[in-house]
Amino acid sequence: MKHSFTIVKRIPASRANVIANYLDLEHLPVHSGLAGCRVKSETEHAACFEMTTKVGPFRFRNVHYFEFRPPSEIFHAVKSPLGPMYVLSSVEEIGSGTPDVRCEVTVQTVIELPALLYPARALVEKLLRRLNETVLMEDRTILDRRQALLGDYVEDYLRDQQRILFKEVFRRYYSRPGPPSDPVRTS
Ligand SMILES: [Fe+2]
Repeated sequence: MKHSFTIVKRIPASRANVIANYLDLEHLPVHSGLAGCRVKSETEHAACFEMTTKVGPFRFRNVHYFEFRPPSEIFHAVKSPLGPMYVLSSVEEIGSGTPDVRCEVTVQTVIELPALLYPARALVEKLLRRLNETVLMEDRTILDRRQALLGDYVEDYLRDQQRILFKEVFRRYYSRPGPPSDPVRTS
């Protein structure tokens, strides 16, 4: 039985930075709930990876399907322990090109719960919302500093040795070779 809900996240960083954070495999150790990630296959826009998540003393290993729909959407599907889950994240940039650039990320989640768990859907939603908040707080330890120090500059993600999904598509949409833009406020 399907249960859906939407979360809107406000992030003080450019869309290039937010999308790079979604695709970057090297920052995953900042996430306290993750114990490992192994990419099993990758095409230009889509990837399958095996991810190990930690819940207390337990470890769950799941195969995730992850798709970049450029320029601003990420689709993610996983057969979670609670049932199949589909998550579409859409990133909208506000205040582009100004020191107040920021994003509103709309996360639409659909989870197919077994009939037995459906009466507990409000609790499941609450747990998933809390998990989302934790992940956002952890990502913001990177995003806030990057935006303050480097502004919209994302060329470092495009180095040969950087492990980022869909690097060539990301380059096509977000590369702006040159020095970092000056993030210092002038007003
Ligand atoms: Fe992250």
